[in-house]
Amino acid sequence: MGGVQNIINLMNLPIYNQVEKFVIDSFNKINKSEEIKHFLRTVYWLKELKPDTDEALLTAAVSHDIERAFRQKDMDDKKTAVGFAGVEYYKTHELRGAEIVVDFLKKQNVQNDFIERVSMLISQHEEGGNDDQNLLKDADCISFFENNVSFFVSGSELTASSVKKVKHKLDWMFDKITSEQAEQIAKPFYEDAIKVLNNN
Ligand SMILES: [Fe+2]
Ligand SMILES: [Fe+2]
Repeated sequence: MGGVQNIINLMNLPIYNQVEKFVIDSFNKINKSEEIKHFLRTVYWLKELKPDTDEALLTAAVSHDIERAFRQKDMDDKKTAVGFAGVEYYKTHELRGAEIVVDFLKKQNVQNDFIERVSMLISQHEEGGNDDQNLLKDADCISFFENNVSFFVSGSELTASSVKKVKHKLDWMFDKITSEQAEQIAKPFYEDAIKVLNNN
């Protein structure tokens, strides 16, 4: 039922729809269409956590990881240098993502206060901050545990040290969830992932 409701409500949101198309096109262009599910499910979980959420929050949710579609080479260096959860890595990820969406919205002549709100949300989606930033962060975490985790925990090439790193990443994602409701939703996904990881 939630899915159907989502589709009907989102049809009346022209800016959201333009940005969703931009995100999907951007990831298709670099042959990473498998990443799109994470963004759409972040939108879904956001609406589950806050059914009366506004268009700017939904727009930020669908585009929060857009930096990954326009990745610059220096991000790889940051990742290996600091591991999965490094501040330098995710700050750059957030700020570049916000910049890309701001540029896109300006070209569509979207109002400034809407653009500023989207930028405020994306630029802190990893660590959260105010209530709305926390909401986006929580929806992102649930969607991560629901859709992205198998990429990290499966694979026979996992060594003892990479198992430790993955465990660290999973714990970091789970521990940063703010709301009790989001934690309850994410928990079974998290526990399954830890089980799979421990069997490696
Ligand atoms: Fe992100
Ligand atoms: Fe994400």
